[in-house]
Amino acid sequence: MTEPRNDDVLLDVENLTVRFAVKRGSTFGHKSYLYAVDDISFAIKRGETLAIVGESGSGKTTAALAVARLVEAYQGKVNLDGEDFLQLEDADLRKARAKVQFIFQDPYSSLNPRVRAEKIVREPLESLQTVPAPERQAIVDKLFTAVGLHPEQQRLFPHQFSGGQRQRIGIARALATQPELIICDEPVSALDVAVQAQILNLLRKLQTEFGLTYLFISHDLGVVQHMCDSIAVMYMGKIVEHADRLSLFNNPLHPYTSALLSAVPSVDKKRREATKRILIPGDPPDPLALPKGCRFANRCPAAQPQCEDSQPPLTEVAPGHKVACHLVDEKAVSPL
Ligand SMILES: Nc1ncnc2c1ncn2[C@@H]1O[C@H](COP(=O)(O)OP(=O)(O)OP(=O)(O)O)[C@@H](O)[C@H]1O
Ligand code: SF4
Ligand SMILES: [Mg+2]
Repeated sequence: MTEPRNDDVLLDVENLTVRFAVKRGSTFGHKSYLYAVDDISFAIKRGETLAIVGESGSGKTTAALAVARLVEAYQGKVNLDGEDFLQLEDADLRKARAKVQFIFQDPYSSLNPRVRAEKIVREPLESLQTVPAPERQAIVDKLFTAVGLHPEQQRLFPHQFSGGQRQRIGIARALATQPELIICDEPVSALDVAVQAQILNLLRKLQTEFGLTYLFISHDLGVVQHMCDSIAVMYMGKIVEHADRLSLFNNPLHPYTSALLSAVPSVDKKRREATKRILIPGDPPDPLALPKGCRFANRCPAAQPQCEDSQPPLTEVAPGHKVACHLVDEKAVSPL
């Protein structure tokens, strides 16, 4: 087998759209579509981490679920490890499914309370049948050690673990099928701050050890700042800014990104003093009645009348730095 090259793209998502049919008003009311994810594209190189960041309802989870084929995409393409993932069927699909695993936000509700930890970790091996039965226990043993749990804890039930330990079980379960891509959906949001750091460190260690690629979802830029190579910021189903981590932190261009960033406590005193907290007033628009112009216009501190005329396209304004804002030109200067 040849060594993977660093420029190898593992996941390439093109024009992904997910819509949900929703009924409004009375039972006879007419059906509308909520575009939870609206024509987004991104790619992740093997062994790297892309963070998707945005506030509640921006479409992060829906995008991730569609990538993993856990909700149906309405439009778009998901290329996983060279295969057209959304078109695969039967044995090919089973094989490809083993390459993508999820770690969920809530280690309390995502583990079946009546099942012992060892069975929880073994379950993906049993359902996907990628490894012969006699070899499965050895894999479970190894995974328990890899995530920092003791072998004797395999016999315990989820309620006998702390929150952080439960998330370790969730991580071990995600690793069971030797996946290439792990989707971490707010994996530390339900944990205490001290435990958050331990879990993030563990995820980083496992990434190196197993050569994992992460799609890391969070509403908090602070959590992803030590955890990712690049960042896509989502707002109302759209990617509004996409850049490598340093460009995004050092030169945020979209006013929404600047606002999110201003809420991140900085350890650097100079930066803390230089950054004024930008508060975003008001609420996002109704996802069933989106404006024709910029979706952020009703809350944007930099908005101008022309922002309401048309939707700003996501445009590359510096190498690898894309932004969707009418007031950012090719000189890549933020309107704020
Ligand atoms: N099954 C569904 N049916 C109808 N609407 C849905 C469904 N799932 C999600 N939505 C809507 O799609 C939009 C995006 O939701 P999603 O859960 O993807 O956001 P999110 O960014 O993950 O938010 P959070 O940070 O709260 O987890 C929201 O408006 C949500 O109400
Ligand atoms: S297009 Fe206008 S409203 Fe939208 S983010 Fe840019 S400045 Fe703000
Ligand atoms: Mg979510």
